[in-house]
Amino acid sequence: MTPRDTVSLGVGAAVRSRFPIFEHTTYANSCSQGALSLDVRQAYEEYLAGWDEHGAEWEHWVERAESARATFARLVGAETEEVAVTTSVSQAVSGVVSALPLEQGRDRIVISEFEFPTVGQIAHAQELRGAEIVHVRPDPDGRIPLERFAEAIDERTALVCCTAISYRTGYRLDVAGVAELAHERGALCLADSYQAAGAVPLDVRALGVDFLTAGTVKYLLASAGLAFMFVRRDLHARLLPTQTGWFADEDIFQMDISDYSPSASARRFDAGTPPVPNIYAGIAGMGLIESVGVAAVEMHVRTLVARLLTGLVALGARIATPLGDGEYGPLVCVVSTDPAALVEELAAERIVTSSRDANLRISLHLYNVEEDVDAIVRVLEKHRHLLAS
Ligand SMILES: Cc1ncc(COP(=O)(O)O)c(C=O)c1O
Repeated sequence: MTPRDTVSLGVGAAVRSRFPIFEHTTYANSCSQGALSLDVRQAYEEYLAGWDEHGAEWEHWVERAESARATFARLVGAETEEVAVTTSVSQAVSGVVSALPLEQGRDRIVISEFEFPTVGQIAHAQELRGAEIVHVRPDPDGRIPLERFAEAIDERTALVCCTAISYRTGYRLDVAGVAELAHERGALCLADSYQAAGAVPLDVRALGVDFLTAGTVKYLLASAGLAFMFVRRDLHARLLPTQTGWFADEDIFQMDISDYSPSASARRFDAGTPPVPNIYAGIAGMGLIESVGVAAVEMHVRTLVARLLTGLVALGARIATPLGDGEYGPLVCVVSTDPAALVEELAAERIVTSSRDANLRISLHLYNVEEDVDAIVRVLEKHRHLLAS
């Protein structure tokens, strides 16, 4: 696919044929798992073929991990040395907190109420080390205005965790604003951007964050077991993760068990053997996003979301996602009287969605087209009684 194809055909139509699921299904669940492409399938086959042909391909596998690191760095406007390759966001966040002294005077972790469970649970695990966890709750309208963060962050705060886009409501937080508040009070800021990476442009410099995490399962179009973390360059020397492993060492193949000498770069937040098959898949998935360009993906999805919102408003549906300028991305959440039943009814018509809390989650990505949106709205109309008013 060339950029010219994407311009003349529209992103969705141009890329769609690379995702076999659309031959029989309307897929609108990228917030849970991106659709499988021919490219990712082929990447797994390449991994297996190389293993078959050469046995242990360690040098090549390490090179692939470095290529994945560089690709993610390009996607978020970071330098390659500022990116850690991990198996999950959980590993990345655990690495960060393991590097924080959480001493008296700087012993608080502030988390937004929209954090993925893993971030909340890792934060609360630090209570065992004497930390105090402060939650920033949304207002009744589903927004978390910066004032709420300002009330929660103080001189005792070591780390502020916010999520770029909520997996529960699709609400897009003002990450740059949160990072600024954190820094004003001497705290660090981590933005979990799993629900944003690949769908909306992310620029770590513009956001001003210290850490930014994401994995490849969702809008980066690959599979489980691969994630990344941006760590701002000037923090590297200061942060010594005690959750570590040999791939975080300054010289991986020195095999030295006599000391702890972590890499000088963000690789100090890597850990054990890299998740090689997932790295092959991740490079292919991120490659698709790069070939289209995140800005083009966002524009395409914005048009589809506008069409969806028009349909939902016409049905009189109650939309849980705040809809102000810049307050949402690819995920739209609709309040349902029985979300599990609604997901089932859609599935019966070969439309894949998901639910969280009382909300139906509809997420759109580069491969979706207007016909998908129209099909979803038609089925919702048929089951209008399952939508809250
Ligand atoms: C916002 C967010 N963070 C984190 C995760 C997953 O974290 P991990 O990679 O630790 O499984 C998800 C996945 O559903 C997510 O939506």
